[in-house]
Amino acid sequence: MEFKESARLYEEAKKYTPGGVHTSIRNLEPHLIFKKAEGAYIYDADGNKYIDYQGAFGPYILGHNNPYVNNKVIEALGRTDLYGTGTTDLEIELAQKICKHVPSAEQVLFCNSGSEATFHAIRLARAVTKRVKLIKFQGCYHGWHDYVARNMLSSWDMIGKRDPGSAGMMEEAIDNTLVCTFNDLEDVESTIKSNDGEVAALIIEPIPHNIGCIMPQPGFLEGLRKLCDEHGIILIFDEVITGFRHDIGCYQKVAGVTPDLTTMGKAMANGFPIAAIAGKKQYMQRFNTQPGGDVWFAGTYNGHAVGTAASIATLEMMENEPVHEHVFRLGEKMRSGLRDILKRLDIESYVAGFGSVFTTYFMGFEPKNYSDLQHNDAVFYVAYRRALMEKGIFKLPMNMKRNHISYSHTDKEIDYTLECIEDVLRVMKGKK
Ligand SMILES: Cc1ncc(COP(=O)(O)O)c(C=O)c1O
Repeated sequence: MEFKESARLYEEAKKYTPGGVHTSIRNLEPHLIFKKAEGAYIYDADGNKYIDYQGAFGPYILGHNNPYVNNKVIEALGRTDLYGTGTTDLEIELAQKICKHVPSAEQVLFCNSGSEATFHAIRLARAVTKRVKLIKFQGCYHGWHDYVARNMLSSWDMIGKRDPGSAGMMEEAIDNTLVCTFNDLEDVESTIKSNDGEVAALIIEPIPHNIGCIMPQPGFLEGLRKLCDEHGIILIFDEVITGFRHDIGCYQKVAGVTPDLTTMGKAMANGFPIAAIAGKKQYMQRFNTQPGGDVWFAGTYNGHAVGTAASIATLEMMENEPVHEHVFRLGEKMRSGLRDILKRLDIESYVAGFGSVFTTYFMGFEPKNYSDLQHNDAVFYVAYRRALMEKGIFKLPMNMKRNHISYSHTDKEIDYTLECIEDVLRVMKGKK
């Protein structure tokens, strides 16, 4: 495979943009310039074609450039856009759909990114509880803002320690965010007790997909719900990845645990920019979109026709077609195919995943938290992904990253991917 045109354009990109990319972790080798996306496939500037499992970090539940969604957006733009006052018919229709499907959503507000949604949820929780502290989990990601940007992909020696993700963060924000271990209820309980009456909210990815796929152990999410109830803490499920990808009612519907507030984005609109915060009416009414509300909520582009039309269309697809049935079946096929190959080749590994999400950790047991992932062979993990890229299979070449299957993937892509995986692993393990 040649990447000459990508390399040439990358030099141009770097002249005008620091690092040539517009999100930090996009700067990976080889640096690809993308020009076309369709269904399960993406194409780079050299004309290389890849089956895409990166899926832009998760929005593409239906696949790239889905015609139904795109046409609904074009149709909407033929008559409407953004007003900066009042409400649009599209906003009402989308809000109705979300409140119908998502258990925690008595009311909903739209914004443009997952980071905005988590920021609003945390500020609301602080207003409601009149407390300041926040609990998050080591390895979880909730966006770029100061409240949550600590202890994300920490280096192993910084696990659980004070690990801000950026220079320039406000010290008070860092110190008021407490960090717990995923799947460890005792740790959460003791953290709450040693900060008695000070914790406003607990924010969690119900499945931490930012580190691949670590499943909540039976009773963990239920235990968090109970602890939050007992201590007057607002429970926030950050379903920016899990929401709509794992069920039209989000993962909370699957788990049977209802948070107080939910943040959503990504698969909500199949790649178009929109996000949401939803939750109990008694809390949502504190936002100052409600007359008398005292928690600021605003955004020039909130509720734009592009995002709302795309989201309505995406949810309609989920309502009317077997989207989840399809991606769950292919996810299971991929995971069981992987397990067979890895067993055949006698490679120490753990195939993780849920529904349309999967990854192979090169370690001998099921990881239950971020610390466990130290046992994953990161060098092999990344090299394996790079080798697959050379065969036209795109999985982000970065440690701990997950893969996504979309409604556009078919048995053909899964079968071909499994064949390539077996070839690559045989060569890498010298088993040919
Ligand atoms: C769980 C989770 N929450 C929040 C965010 C932030 O969303 P955005 O990148 O749209 O600001 C992300 C982004 O990857 C995420 O994975």
